[in-house]
Amino acid sequence: MTLTVGVLASGSGTNLQAILDACASANAPARVGVVICNVPGVRALERAGAAGVPHHVVPHVGRSREDFEALLQQHLEQHGVELLVLAGFMRVLTSDFVRAWSGRLINIHPSLLPSFTGLHAIRQALDYGVRWTGCTVHFVDEGVDTGPIIAQAVVPIQADDTEQTLHARVQREEHRLLPEVVRLIAEGRVRIDGRRVLIADLPTS
Ligand code: GRF
Repeated sequence: MTLTVGVLASGSGTNLQAILDACASANAPARVGVVICNVPGVRALERAGAAGVPHHVVPHVGRSREDFEALLQQHLEQHGVELLVLAGFMRVLTSDFVRAWSGRLINIHPSLLPSFTGLHAIRQALDYGVRWTGCTVHFVDEGVDTGPIIAQAVVPIQADDTEQTLHARVQREEHRLLPEVVRLIAEGRVRIDGRRVLIADLPTS
């Protein structure tokens, strides 16, 4: 059985690309069923098109949150989405939507949560002066970047890092981590136990 994944994105979609590439490999346990962007003309749409994946633009501008999410929901149902991935999706979803997708909705965030939630996480880490940052894939709950953590990758901060150089190194980790989590979920190995996420058969070292 192949898990059908939906991806919501707002921008360049390099994380989407990483998922598309992983799903294109032989015996991948997941496939991308649909990509939806809230911003017209973004590169993520081109990436979906190039991979032959159905894609839609649902602008958030000019409609209520409820109408926006009802349209998202329609597309997700139409394409049989079982797991929904926020990959650079720059809208906060309502509690109703998040509850409806509870346990089936994940996000990638460019920091080691719970540090540096919200916008500009890379800049926040640089400004704070931490030595290490990274990225986190987590289940989405009703808060902003607060849901149970599935996986994290650590990235050292160098003295001469700028927001751009650091973001580039964090993204390299994101592109490895996010498809890996999608695969683990598709293989049925991920279980939520309160705030903790248990992953079956992970190597111990
Ligand atoms: C990523 O850094 C992700 O952590 C954040 O938004 C960025 C999206 O990048 N949520 P891309 O569109 O996947 O290239």
